[in-house]
Amino acid sequence: MSFTVAIDGPAAAGKGTISKAVAAHFGFAHLDTGLIYRATAARVIAGEDPVAAAQELRPEDLAREDLRTADVAQAASKVAVIPEVRAALVAFQRRFAAREEGAVLDGRDIGTVICPEAEVKLFVTASAEVRAERRYLELVAKDASVTRDQVLADVKARDARDTGRDTAPMVAAKDAVLIDTSEMQIAEAVTAAIAEVEKVRGS
Ligand code: DC
Repeated sequence: MSFTVAIDGPAAAGKGTISKAVAAHFGFAHLDTGLIYRATAARVIAGEDPVAAAQELRPEDLAREDLRTADVAQAASKVAVIPEVRAALVAFQRRFAAREEGAVLDGRDIGTVICPEAEVKLFVTASAEVRAERRYLELVAKDASVTRDQVLADVKARDARDTGRDTAPMVAAKDAVLIDTSEMQIAEAVTAAIAEVEKVRGS
């Protein structure tokens, strides 16, 4: 029997870490849906048409090592505005959500559009300043020229695009449980998320 946990929220709120920990705790499969938009964007940067890139996306595209850069993140947010790109990626995500062993999907529209019937829906958020600081610390370790102001501007630009688009904007589902990680350690946020799943599934 499938069991789906939908985890949505803005960039660097902690949803990736929480999703991996929830999946490991319950033995569920995990799909970071941001990666499919990033992989599509990487193909677009290489010159492909966005819709063709989404339609022809292969599992090995998700394993590329260059998907975590700031440029690919912005490009992903841009291709994610295109309704035909989103439509091309729906079936893959729904198949994943239906896995027998259970699944955790994290993204922006999982609880609202991809899996509105998910057994558990979480919306993980934090202030833009806290998220930018986390992302800055990750990025500056790889590239010393990154500045805090630039990362905060990028986070805000991506938030505006992801919440403002017409198709599947980032929004908490009405029945999602909100987890604000601004003042939480990651372990606390993971415990809170696991507790929400246990309420529905049992421990
Ligand atoms: O989660 P992420 O930062 O890797 O996502 C990159 C971009 O992909 C994000 O800014 C918007 C888009 N995205 C989306 O539109 N819908 C999703 N379910 C996941 C990501």
